[in-house]
Amino acid sequence: MRNEAIPNLTAFDEAALDEAFAALERQAREAAAALGGEADREAFRLEWLGRKQGRLNEVSGRWLKAAPAEAKKALGVRFNALKAVVEGLLDAALGAGPSDAALQTEAIDITLPGTRRLLGAEHPITRTMNEIVAVFAALGYSVGVGPEVETDYYNFESMNFPPGHPARDTQDTLVIAAQERKPLRDRLLLRTHTSPVQMRTMEQQPPPVRIVIPGKVHRNDAADATHSPIFHQVEGLCVDTNVTFSDLKGTLDHAMKALFGPAVKTRFFPSFFPFTEPSADVQISCIFCGGKGCRKCKDSGWIELLGCGMVDPAVFAFAAQKQPAYDPRKISGFAFGMGVERIAMMKYGISEIGSFYAGDMRFLGQFA
Ligand code: DAH
Repeated sequence: MRNEAIPNLTAFDEAALDEAFAALERQAREAAAALGGEADREAFRLEWLGRKQGRLNEVSGRWLKAAPAEAKKALGVRFNALKAVVEGLLDAALGAGPSDAALQTEAIDITLPGTRRLLGAEHPITRTMNEIVAVFAALGYSVGVGPEVETDYYNFESMNFPPGHPARDTQDTLVIAAQERKPLRDRLLLRTHTSPVQMRTMEQQPPPVRIVIPGKVHRNDAADATHSPIFHQVEGLCVDTNVTFSDLKGTLDHAMKALFGPAVKTRFFPSFFPFTEPSADVQISCIFCGGKGCRKCKDSGWIELLGCGMVDPAVFAFAAQKQPAYDPRKISGFAFGMGVERIAMMKYGISEIGSFYAGDMRFLGQFA
């Protein structure tokens, strides 16, 4: 079928353009409907899409050239739409589609198993640490961090471990080499606990303070089933007016119930830490036997879980050197520190601390 010649366009308003392009589209559709074999198809292609004598080329040449500047955009849009229609008609006229040979080479075997992507999951230590932090966040505590490479001053002296004091020996310390020329307080070490961040926090902000500090700590300890030279702690500090030991007890009793279930009981045993006075060890009723006595709790019914106490006035005196509001006559506070590995081992029934660090997917996969 012979197409009508492309007319000249004289009006370029939207209605005139719509009509002119509609007429062309009608012709293209009629022509495409009548296509027979491969030769017809090629003729159609040349007729409409041919680079030199194709009808679309003629349209773009004549209509576009004649169009006033303000009508060129409207014309262009319709031209592109028509071109897409014609190309679509040509593709559809392929009918048979790609050849069998082409299909063969492109074929995919949908019965093959796909690429399995392993789901990521939080490491049980991270998860436990986040869980502990969340319990205190719900009580209004904010979260702080501090450096792992710490000075002697923050790790020990300002926490009321004077130079040479035997309490320092309870935390076997890894020190950075070749610093003998520095004053002791400036020497660097790997922090043995998260407590130095108590001091860093107080130096940065006046009371009231409610903060928890999760982090990694280091000790020169031999590894065994329950000890690792690198482990994690969550520290807590609450300072305000009239903070009492019963606030400490209530807070930690709530936290232990939140972590281990509402049936868990707590008790506080006298202890010693240089930075708290009085100090206590917190024990929880054995989560394995419910307090009746078993191998895990050495038949006592109780398991020791963390240290705590009322902030020692000597610690406030160090903080007051930078923030005078830490006047132990006006404010009081409590602090606590817990080992994340120990809590995770209890929660998940893990007996070897080394499992956390070995990177064995058979272990880690159980937490996914
Ligand atoms: N820093 C102590 C340790 O690593 C744990 C600790 C005990 C932290 C009592 C405290 C605390 O804040 O009040 O052994």
